[in-house]
Formats: sequence, C-alpha cells, structure tokens
Amino acid sequence: MIFKFILLTFNFLWLMVVFHLCFAVDGCIDWSVDLKKYRALAGEPVRVKCALFYSYIRTNYTMAQSTKLRLIWYKNREDSEEPIIFSGHRLSKEDDSIWFRSAEMQDNGFYTCVLRNSTYCMKVSMSLTVEDNDSGLCYNSKIRYLEKSEITKKKEITCPDIEDYLAPYKQPVMTWYKECKPKIWRSTIIVNVTSFIIPSVEESDAGNYTCELKYGSKFVRRTTELKVTGRKLQSCNKTETYRECISNFVKEFHDLKMFSCNCCYSTFFQF
Ligand SMILES: *[C@@H]1O[C@H](CO)[C@@H](O)[C@H](O)[C@H]1NC(C)=O
Ligand SMILES: *[C@@H]1O[C@H](CO)[C@@H](O)[C@H](O)[C@H]1NC(C)=O
Ligand SMILES: *[C@@H]1O[C@H](CO)[C@@H](O)[C@H](O)[C@H]1NC(C)=O
Ligand SMILES: *[C@@H]1O[C@H](CO)[C@@H](O)[C@H](O)[C@H]1NC(C)=O
Ligand SMILES: *[C@@H]1O[C@H](CO)[C@@H](O)[C@H](O)[C@H]1NC(C)=O
Ligand SMILES: *[C@@H]1O[C@H](CO)[C@@H](O)[C@H](O)[C@H]1NC(C)=O
Repeated sequence: MIFKFILLTFNFLWLMVVFHLCFAVDGCIDWSVDLKKYRALAGEPVRVKCALFYSYIRTNYTMAQSTKLRLIWYKNREDSEEPIIFSGHRLSKEDDSIWFRSAEMQDNGFYTCVLRNSTYCMKVSMSLTVEDNDSGLCYNSKIRYLEKSEITKKKEITCPDIEDYLAPYKQPVMTWYKECKPKIWRSTIIVNVTSFIIPSVEESDAGNYTCELKYGSKFVRRTTELKVTGRKLQSCNKTETYRECISNFVKEFHDLKMFSCNCCYSTFFQF
C-alpha cells in the first residue's frame, strides 16, 4: 500500500518534471515582470489584467481569441508556476483579467499570463500586493501612493488606479478622507469627484488622503501621501540680501521649517 503510494507520488513528480521541461524548452517568450504593480487592501475587489495586451503585443483579447490563441493563468510559487483553477466565487477569469471579488492576504504574489497556440507563446507576470489596514487606520502605508508639492504651488491629486472600477457613463460615488476622517474642504479647493485641485498648497495640506470608491456592495480605497516641501527659487536673486530674503519669507510663511530659499540659505545661520 505504502509502496503503491510512493510509486504514485513518484509518477506524479516525474510528470511534473516532464511538464516543466516541455514548458522550458518550448521557447515561450518571457517578458518577466511587468512594471505595473497591483495593490489592494484585504477585502477589496481587484482586477489583474494580463499586461501582454496592454504593453507587449498589438492584439487585444477579442482578436487573440478569434485567432484561437489561448490565455492561461498561473500563480508563481517558489520558482514554479501553478495553474490557477477558477472555481468558486472568490476568483474568476474574465476576458484578459483575473478578478478577485475580495482579495485576501494569501493572494499576494506574482501572476503569470501565458498566451499560446501550438506555434506561438508569450508570457508576462504581474505582481499583486494585498495588505491589511495599519492598526487603527483606513490604509496601509506600504501600499500608499506618494505625491509632492512645493508650498504655494498648485497641486492636483487624483484617486489613482481606479479606471477598472468605474462604470461607463455613470458618475462615480466617491468619498475623500484625510487621516481617515471625512475631509472638509476649504473654499478655495476645487473638488471634482475623483480628483481635487489645491490652487495654492499650504503646509497643513500635507498628509494622507484616502479616496473611497463605491464598487457594487464593496469599496475600492487608495491612499496618497502628499508631502509639502519648501519653496525652491528657480532663479536666485543675487542682489537680495539675506535680511530681505528672510523678511520676505516671514511675510509669506509662518513656519521656518518650510524654508528652503536657496538665495540666503548659506547666510541663514548668521541671522
Ligand atoms: C480589438 O481590436 C480590434 C481591431 O483592432 C477592434 O476592432 C476591436 O474593437 C477591439 N476590441 C476591443 C474590445 O477593444
Ligand atoms: C499561432 O498564433 C500566431 C499569432 O497569432 C499565428 O501567426 C499562427 O499562425 C498561429 N499558429 C497556429 C498553428 O494556429
Ligand atoms: C480598513 O478600514 C476601513 C475604514 O475604516 C474599513 O471599512 C475596512 O473594513 C478596513 N479593512 C480591513 C481589512 O480591516
Ligand atoms: C473633472 O476632471 C476631469 C478630468 O480631469 C475633467 O475632464 C472634467 O471636465 C472635470 N469636471 C469638472 C466638473 O471640473
Ligand atoms: C501620514 O501617515 C503616516 C503613516 O501612517 C504618519 O506617520 C504621518 O504622520 C501622516 N501624515 C500626517 C500629516 O498626519
Ligand atoms: C531682487 O531683489 C532686490 C532687493 O529686494 C529687488 O529690488 C529686485 O527687484 C529683485 N530682482 C528680481 C529680479 O526679483
């Protein structure tokens, strides 16, 4: 009985080896890992698109299908690619994508899509990062997006990577939060559902902005950290003395730590 089991296991392993050899020598063009990184909070829906159709080949999924090319998905596990079985409700294959109804931590990793027929084969991998909220927060800082703005400059912040979750011809339902609290906008800020424009950035605008898009009965959340930096003078006014520079600066800003006026920076400490 045990012997039979070992024999079966051996047979199975041997089949795996043969399968992998075939796979390695069949000359599939491997584009390695695509630059786009998918990131989601646990519990959120995620669509992972086969990047072949977006960056590597000219055909779209419909065209590929009509020419009898097959699209196969694998999850990469320690140097091997395991075919994904689309059973159950949580995971499904839709056209050129995998849809996770509700991403889980175990979904973290690399996904490979292979497009092939008997004479043609191409593949590329996509990375997906799923994280839980940081404790007490509505986001995870590891999957946050970053934006920077100089003080007093105009800045637009757009809810990133939500295109795949917007319904055509329907106004998206979106709520904005700052530090996980509903954002109350000052009158000068122009809010345009999926983005907002700060005409003149203030120091207090720095922080973590979360946009929450309603998607069916679920939400898609993205968090962008806005870093506000000091003003950099493009053209230094050499005739301006440091005293003038400081007094101009103090007129404009209240907090010296925002100060990066290069003109008088060197003399700043003598002040
Ligand atoms: C796929 O490409 C063909 C030819 O370029 C085009 O006619 C068709 O509309 C495209 N389909 C989709 C779903 O984009
Ligand atoms: C496989 O697909 C390629 C690219 O679409 C095509 O040129 C080739 O004729 C196909 N081969 C077979 C056997 O269908
Ligand atoms: C993350 O935080 C949001 C807002 O507080 C909450 O609705 C959501 O359920 C949290 N997600 C997880 C996975 O804890
Ligand atoms: C909102 O932003 C989009 C994209 O930037 C723009 O096309 C649209 O006209 C804006 N709508 C309003 C009401 O400002
Ligand atoms: C943004 O989030 C980070 C990490 O969660 C936190 O350390 C930082 O203080 C936040 N920024 C502001 C302006 O509250
Ligand atoms: C440079 O600073 C001096 C002194 O404040 C001022 O008179 C002059 O107009 C400034 N020049 C420019 C180009 O800003």
